[in-house]
Amino acid sequence: MWLPCGCTSKYVASSFARRTLASYLHVSGRSRCNVAAFMPEAAGLEGVSGRAALRELSVSNSESFWAAVARHRLCWSTPFHTVQDCDLSRGKIKWFEGGKLNVSVNCLDRHVHTCPERVALIWERDERGWCCTDELLEMTCRLGNLLRRHGVKRGDCVTIYMPTCPLAVASMLACARIGAAHNVVFAGFSADALAERIRDAQSSTVITVNQGVRGGKVTELKKTVDTAMQSCPTVKQVFVAMRTDNPVTMTARDIAMEEVREQKEMLKEDVVCEPAVMNSEDVLFLLYTSGSTGKPKGLVHTQAGYLLYAALTHRYVFSYHDGDVFGCVADIGWITGHSYVVYGPLANGATTVLFESTPIYPDPGRYWDMVERLKINQFYGAPTAIRLLLKYGDQWVNKYDRSTLKTLGSVGEPINTEAWEWYHRVVGDGRCPVVDTWWQTETGGICIAPRPSDPDAEIVPGMAMRPFFGINPVLMDTEVIVFGFLQGEVLTSNNTSGALCMAQPWPGMARTIHNNHQRFIDTYFQPYPGYFFTGDGAYRSEEGYYQITGRLDDVINVSGHRIGTAEIEDVVNQCPAVAESAVVGYTHSIKGQGVYAFVVLKKGIDVQEADLSRQLNGMVSEKIAKYASPDFIQFAKRLPKTRSGKIMRRVLRKVVESDLEGLGDLSTLDDPAAVQEIIQGHEKLL
Ligand code: PRX
Repeated sequence: MWLPCGCTSKYVASSFARRTLASYLHVSGRSRCNVAAFMPEAAGLEGVSGRAALRELSVSNSESFWAAVARHRLCWSTPFHTVQDCDLSRGKIKWFEGGKLNVSVNCLDRHVHTCPERVALIWERDERGWCCTDELLEMTCRLGNLLRRHGVKRGDCVTIYMPTCPLAVASMLACARIGAAHNVVFAGFSADALAERIRDAQSSTVITVNQGVRGGKVTELKKTVDTAMQSCPTVKQVFVAMRTDNPVTMTARDIAMEEVREQKEMLKEDVVCEPAVMNSEDVLFLLYTSGSTGKPKGLVHTQAGYLLYAALTHRYVFSYHDGDVFGCVADIGWITGHSYVVYGPLANGATTVLFESTPIYPDPGRYWDMVERLKINQFYGAPTAIRLLLKYGDQWVNKYDRSTLKTLGSVGEPINTEAWEWYHRVVGDGRCPVVDTWWQTETGGICIAPRPSDPDAEIVPGMAMRPFFGINPVLMDTEVIVFGFLQGEVLTSNNTSGALCMAQPWPGMARTIHNNHQRFIDTYFQPYPGYFFTGDGAYRSEEGYYQITGRLDDVINVSGHRIGTAEIEDVVNQCPAVAESAVVGYTHSIKGQGVYAFVVLKKGIDVQEADLSRQLNGMVSEKIAKYASPDFIQFAKRLPKTRSGKIMRRVLRKVVESDLEGLGDLSTLDDPAAVQEIIQGHEKLL
C-alpha cells in the first residue's frame, strides 16, 4: 500500500456506489440553457445572456440564481422547497430548506458514473516522492462503518486532529456520510488549544495519528492528544492511525484504526456504508477560529449551502476544468483546506492534492518539483510562502517544468506587489493569471477574486477585485461610533475606504457560532444592522475594484494564520510575574505580521528579562501554538491608557511600526509620559 511514487486515491466504482447514486439522482433543471456555454449551472435561468447579466442577476434575483445552480450542481435525494429564508438583522441564515442530500455522496459516489478512473486524491507526503494509493470511497465507507459501530451517531461531533493525509480526508467524509459533524483541529495546535476545542464542541470521539511528520520533523500528535485528554473527561474513544512506524502507548480509550501495518480494525468493516439522508441545514462541521476576544469561536457550516458554494467558487475562481489537477497547499486544519483541498474539488470530481510538507523541505524547490511531478494545473498558496521563496531566488523555480500550470491563487493575507509580481513573472512564466482571493472561515468560500465570472478580465496586482456571483459587498463609514460601536452609512462612491460588509446572504456563509448564537449576532450583524460585517477594511478603486486593507479589530494574521491578540494576552497574563500585557501585530517581511507583546511586571518582581521572555514564549507555544509565540517582548513600567483605563492599542501599534508621526491625538491619554517610555523601550529592543 505504501508506494514510492504515483500516489493517488481513486473515486472507485463499486456496484454499491452506483446504487447509492441512483437513489440520489433527483436532479432537475439539467438540460435547457442559454448561458450554458460558460455556466451550465445557470441553465434554468431564462433570458439571461452574457456574463455581466448573469452576475447582475445573481445579486438582483439571487433566489433564482442559487436555485438553478443548486439544482444543477448538487445531487439531491429530495429537492428543496424554499431557496432561502434569511434575516441578517437576526443572524438567521437558512438555504435550500426541504432539500435532503448527503455530502459524501456528492463528493464521491456520483463521480463513479462520470469519471470512475479519475484520481481523487494525490497525497504528497513529507518525504518527497512518496505517495500512497487507496480508494477514497472505500476508505470513507469503512471508516463510516467503524464510527457507527463504535456508537457515533448522526448529530454527534467528531474531533479530527491529524496532518493532511488521505485518512484525514476520509475521516471528514466518513462523518459526513453518517451524519456526524466534524471538528478538525490544526495539528500544530497545542494540547491546551485542542482540549479547549474538544470541550467546546462536546466531542466524545477523537481521531488522530501516532505521529505527524512535517519538514522532516516528527511531532508527537498522539501524546498531545493524551495530554489534552486529561481535561476532556467526556471523550470516550480515540481512534489512532499510524503515520510512522513508531508504536505509541495505547490506553483503554484508544482504538488502533488503520488497515495497514497489522491493525485490522478498519479492514473488518464493510466497504458499503449507507449514507445518512441529511437536511440542507444540518451541521456539516465546526471550525474554530480567532476573534477579538479571548475564546476561539466554533463557526458552524451546514450541508448543502456550504458544499454548493465551495464547489462553485472552486470551479469559477480558478477556471477549473474537468480533468485538471488542483493543488491547494493549505493544511486541512484551516478553512482553505476544508473548502479547496477537500469539499470544493471533490464535489467537482477533481483530482486534489494533499500537501503534507513545507515549501522549503527538503529544499526551496519543493512546490515546483511537485508541480512538475504531479502535473498540477491550478496552484493555490499563501503569500507568506511566496515571500519566503522569492528570497531563495529564481533558480529553484526554473529548475522545474511548470508548463501544466494555468492559474495561480493566493489566499489568507494581502499579497504585496513584489510577491505578486514574482509569482506571476517567475512561477507563472508571465502567462498564468494570479488570483488574489479574499474570504474568511466565516464566508465558507471565496467572496472576492479577480476573475470570478470572466476568465479574460483585467487583473490588477495585489487586488482581490471583483465579487463572486451572489456576493454584494458594500463599504461602510467607520468614523461614526454610537454607544461604543461602529455605526455608519453605506459609502456609495468609488475611490473610498471603509468597513467591508456584505449586503445580502449567500449559501456558503456560516450559520452560527456553536453554542453561542448571541456572539454570532453581536460580532457579525450588530455593528452594521442588516449587514454582515467581515471585520476587514477595504478600499474600492475608481474602477470599482476591491482591495483589502487589513483587520479593523484585534485579530492579527501571522503567516496567513489568524490569531486574536487577546488570546495571546490571556496566556501571558497567566504568568505569575505579569501584571498586565498588550499584544499588537507589526509588519513582518515574511510572515506578513509578527507578534509584539508589551509586558508590565508585578511590583517587586526581579527577574532576568531574557529568562522571562523565554518562559513567556514557551507558555504561548504550549497553550496555543508556535506560530502565536511573540517575536518581540518589550517589558514596560506601564502601558499608555485613556483616563477611563483602556489600553491605547492604536498608540502601541504606531510605536511598533516606528510611525511616530502617526501617533495621532494623545489628548485622552492618562499620562503622556507613558508613551515616551514605550518609545524608548522599543528603540532599545530593536
Ligand atoms: O483579514 C482577512 C485575511 O484573513 C482573514 C480570514 O482569516 P481566516 O478566517 O483564517 O481565513 C483565511 C483563509 C480564507 C480575513 O478576514 N485575508 C484572507 N484572504 C485575504 C486576506 N487579507 C487580504 N487579502 C486576502 N486575499
